Amino acid sequence: MLLEAVLWLLSIAVAPAAAQTALGIDSISSFNADTVPDPPTFTLPSSSNLSVSVAFCSSNSDSTPRFFVTNSSAVSTPSASGGDNVYEIDLTDGYGNFTGLFEEGGVLAVEDAGETTFEIGVSENGPIHQSLDQLPLLGDTTSNQAIIFSPTFELSGWAEPSYPNYTLPDANLTFTEPSSSSNFTIFLVETDTSGSLSSLPQTACVLASQTSAGTVTNESAWLRDDLGWRTQWIIEGLTPSTNYTAYVVRAGTQVSQPMYFATKSATFNCPLVSSLPFCPNIAYPVPLPFPESTTRYDASNIPDSITDPLLSSITNLTVSLTSFACGRDLYSPLVTCADCQREYRRWLCTVSFPRCGEASPSNPDAVTSAAPNPTATGIGAVTHHSKHNKDGAETSTVRSALVPQASGSAPRNSNFPTVDYPYSMLLPCLETCTAADRACPNFLGFKCPVMRFNAAASYGVGYVDSGKEDGEGDGAVSSLQDRYGNIWCNGG
Ligand SMILES: *[C@@H]1O[C@H](CO)[C@@H](O)[C@H](O)[C@H]1NC(C)=O
Ligand SMILES: *[C@@H]1O[C@H](CO)[C@@H](O)[C@H](O)[C@H]1NC(C)=O
Ligand SMILES: *[C@@H]1O[C@H](CO)[C@@H](O)[C@H](O)[C@H]1NC(C)=O
Ligand SMILES: *[C@@H]1O[C@H](CO)[C@@H](O)[C@H](O)[C@H]1NC(C)=O
Ligand SMILES: *[C@@H]1O[C@H](CO)[C@@H](O)[C@H](O)[C@H]1NC(C)=O
Ligand SMILES: *[C@@H]1O[C@H](CO)[C@@H](O)[C@H](O)[C@H]1NC(C)=O
Ligand SMILES: *[C@@H]1O[C@H](CO)[C@@H](O)[C@H](O)[C@H]1NC(C)=O
Ligand SMILES: *[C@@H]1O[C@H](CO)[C@@H](O)[C@H](O)[C@H]1NC(C)=O
Ligand SMILES: *[C@@H]1O[C@H](CO)[C@@H](O)[C@H](O)[C@H]1NC(C)=O
Repeated sequence: MLLEAVLWLLSIAVAPAAAQTALGIDSISSFNADTVPDPPTFTLPSSSNLSVSVAFCSSNSDSTPRFFVTNSSAVSTPSASGGDNVYEIDLTDGYGNFTGLFEEGGVLAVEDAGETTFEIGVSENGPIHQSLDQLPLLGDTTSNQAIIFSPTFELSGWAEPSYPNYTLPDANLTFTEPSSSSNFTIFLVETDTSGSLSSLPQTACVLASQTSAGTVTNESAWLRDDLGWRTQWIIEGLTPSTNYTAYVVRAGTQVSQPMYFATKSATFNCPLVSSLPFCPNIAYPVPLPFPESTTRYDASNIPDSITDPLLSSITNLTVSLTSFACGRDLYSPLVTCADCQREYRRWLCTVSFPRCGEASPSNPDAVTSAAPNPTATGIGAVTHHSKHNKDGAETSTVRSALVPQASGSAPRNSNFPTVDYPYSMLLPCLETCTAADRACPNFLGFKCPVMRFNAAASYGVGYVDSGKEDGEGDGAVSSLQDRYGNIWCNGG
């Protein structure tokens, strides 16, 4: 009798432990109603800094799973009844994580799993499943293409040269590919037909179960600016005049915030240009004829008549600039010759490649129906319409710096051919010019908005900076573009 009782006690002590599923470090396990173990508990390895993360791969109104974790060997099944060293993993938008000291290992238990499919990740390098606060960056769109960049994943690695061998980059830049790969993937979905997606948590396993819109036709690491390397995706096969939502997913488990954009209308004619080593910031549609035998322009097919004068200007600027004892003498406490060359290049590329645009979808008032009269400095951002919001207060409307161009009209850059279609030109942001003005020494004679190159072009003014004295960053929208697909002026 006594022996029987002891055996019985032993069996309850041993049986649940034997049935527990072990989760190892760097493991990602997926469970659904059929595969979740019974009892639904998992053993965790010992570690001085263990992160357990959870992501929902489906949602189910019938059950809301809860996850409890303990790092104490005295607790066999952590649960809602709590106790010492029992923690509930807070779940927000389908994600949850817990990081702590697990000297003796631990146990994770699931309650009310119901029909929900979920993933559990265990790692010593922070939570495997994460909602990143980064965003993809929109290059631009045509009627059926988009160019999108990941957040930066590696610094440029370029070191400022030093005197006496102060050598600036060549006009035609060369890049050394980054040592790491970004491990970002892109996911696109039509915004308005995403009813099935928007009802689900925006986790990587949910995105992976959906079909991404369009086709990625080119993926490469790109050093767009001095912020660092990004992955550049060229996506084709999109539908005209359609709202899309874009996510980037890092390492298959970490999802960025959504970025929204719209494709241009079916009558939009300008082809995309990108991937120019001498103008790494250019990734937008330009008024050129549609290229032969391909769908876009890059360094291999951009006409020399455009490239040669541009490279010559950068070379000439570099020669003039290095007549100064760069690296030995200072012309400013804040900026160097390298800053000047970089900002000059950015400005020159932005004004040399006129940009085609269309009114932003989430701001239909951005359409300028008639060519506005450019002032000495260009188009102003804010126009005070007698528009009233629902409280009756007067509102002002921000318009993109668009100027309609008739078919056959003379191109702003005389090295461009005349095209036989109408388009709207998105003027360069004045800030691209003032940045070069600030970065370059006075003796170069660089002035805004009176330009040495293409003096007929005017600017979009007042978007980022107000244009007033000390008005940096206090413009109408304080940015060149936003996450809703609005591109206010051409910031390159
Ligand atoms: C469990 O976590 C608590 C809180 O971080 C910590 O003080 C304790 O030492 C841990 N216990 C073990 C056995 O790791
Ligand atoms: C645990 O690891 C994460 C991610 O690697 C790190 O940010 C955190 O500082 C670490 N915590 C401790 C206590 O070492
Ligand atoms: C981990 O969870 C906490 C809430 O418990 C949350 O604030 C935090 O952002 C999460 N960390 C990551 C990296 O997702
Ligand atoms: C000067 O610097 C460039 C690039 O950094 C390098 O290629 C070149 O060898 C250097 N020349 C001398 C004389 O050190
Ligand atoms: C720029 O350099 C690349 C190689 O890095 C070369 O293929 C290309 O032809 C050059 N472009 C021009 C316009 O010189
Ligand atoms: C992607 O585009 C770049 C520039 O247009 C080109 O150099 C590269 O070969 C392309 N890569 C692939 C895989 O097509
Ligand atoms: C990239 O992510 C995949 C999962 O999508 C992972 O298996 C791989 O180890 C990661 N590679 C790097 C270099 O981080
Ligand atoms: C660059 O300088 C050379 C020599 O002075 C000159 O012939 C050429 O026109 C200049 N290029 C540009 C674009 O001004
Ligand atoms: C796209 O989104 C905008 C608002 O951002 C909306 O006004 C417009 O109707 C949407 N277009 C389509 C085709 O759904």
